[in-house]
Amino acid sequence: MSKSLSGIYLPVFGGIALVCSVAVAVANRGYGDSQIETLQTRLAQVEAQKAAALTEAEASAARLAELETRLAELESKAGNTVAGGEPVAAHEGAFGLGRPALPEEIAAWDVDVLPDGRGLPEGSGDVSTGEEVFAEKCAACHGDFAEGVDNWPVLAGGFGTLADEDPVKTVGSYWPYLTTVWDYVHRSMPFGEAGTLSADETYAIVAYILYSNDLVDDEFELNQDNLATFEMPNRDGFVIDDRPQREYAEWRTEPCMENCKDSVEITKRATFLDVTPDHGGDSVMNSADTSETPTFTAANATAEEVASADAADAGDAELIAAGKKVFKKCSACHQVGDGAKNKTGPHLNGLIGRTIGSVDGFGYSSVFKQANEEGRIWDQAALDAFLAKPKAYMTGTKMSFAGLKKEQDRAALNAYLATFGE
Ligand code: HEC
Ligand code: HEC
Repeated sequence: MSKSLSGIYLPVFGGIALVCSVAVAVANRGYGDSQIETLQTRLAQVEAQKAAALTEAEASAARLAELETRLAELESKAGNTVAGGEPVAAHEGAFGLGRPALPEEIAAWDVDVLPDGRGLPEGSGDVSTGEEVFAEKCAACHGDFAEGVDNWPVLAGGFGTLADEDPVKTVGSYWPYLTTVWDYVHRSMPFGEAGTLSADETYAIVAYILYSNDLVDDEFELNQDNLATFEMPNRDGFVIDDRPQREYAEWRTEPCMENCKDSVEITKRATFLDVTPDHGGDSVMNSADTSETPTFTAANATAEEVASADAADAGDAELIAAGKKVFKKCSACHQVGDGAKNKTGPHLNGLIGRTIGSVDGFGYSSVFKQANEEGRIWDQAALDAFLAKPKAYMTGTKMSFAGLKKEQDRAALNAYLATFGE
């Protein structure tokens, strides 16, 4: 600012000083009275000019100062200025970002209409006006009588169908509040030209949709006062979502994260139940490769498994382990071990030495019943023959199993099954 001010003052003062020194020099040379008078007049004129120049300079300086202040103001608010509007005060805090929304901007967003009618603009429209507007802007898709063209939505009818297998949900049969119809149509229809309907047109269209649903007569006029109180037929067909009160409290109780149960009993194992075949489909006939399945340590093996493993000598242990693998082919139908139950086939505990077809509560086929009556016993040889070709050994058995071709598989299985006592 000082630079610009001196730029204005210096030429002015410089000019005045020059004129004054000329006047003094001329006076000293002894000119006549008249000349002195003339010079005095000139001097007075110069004085007057000087005063005027000073006033003008001061005014210019003041104006300049004003402009500079304004410029600084504008510069600091450049980012906060709305085109065509007054500069808006910068938003405090939040790193100086953003600004409060203008009332016009809020109004442009705040267009929703609530079920109690809040947000409805002033306006009105009757059925016959609505019929015209509807024919022009909506009927191409929704039909002249709101009955729906092709697959475009039906807006009328469908009363009494909501409980059907294929309900017809229309504005008349389904929508609970008329405010929703006004809001939806005003905001999103005509499809592809959303936002083009005036308030009055929308009132008229909604009146016509009511008319095409037989809910009003052709004289009816809709406006901001009677719209919200209009009772739609399915108004009470909706349930208030009370889960926050009813359910959240239950879900929000602190979850137990440790020692939540006094004793833990393992009743089944995924590998044992063969729920996750290693490859192939889910057929029990697939030969499962169990090399990837985890082995159980004594800590999570059942007491009986541990006891019987102890009983077996080291040479058998390998055979038993192999038999356990082979048993995966049987485990879809048979259980062994602690708490073994009858499934598709009877449990196989204590099998060797057991009378054929003797498990209580299991419904055997007649060939098994007959063998049972004859008092035949499962020994290693019988079992080996049966497992090699079940259908041949027990013609008519209901055990759907093709058989184990490999002798070593049958031997292993025999050894494994022998570890399960009564
Ligand atoms: C170009 C075809 C087309 C035109 C024209 C059109 N609509 Fe639609 N309308 C649709 C489609 C498509 C839907 C379904 C939109 C969706 O589900 O997202 C629909 C849905 C509706 C629904 C809701 C139906 C329901 O039960 O879900 C109403 C009400 C409606 N339109 C009214 C109107 C009105 C009033 C007009 C005229 C101002 C109009 N539509 C013009 C195609 C159209
Ligand atoms: C698809 C189901 C199924 C599969 C797999 C299956 N079984 Fe059976 N098993 C049965 C049924 C059912 C019976 C009863 C047969 C009858 O009543 O005819 C049975 C009977 C038995 C019996 C006679 C038990 C008794 O009480 O007399 C033995 C032993 C047996 N199966 C062993 C096995 C072995 C070992 C395997 C695996 C290699 C196997 N089964 C695979 C269903 C199956």
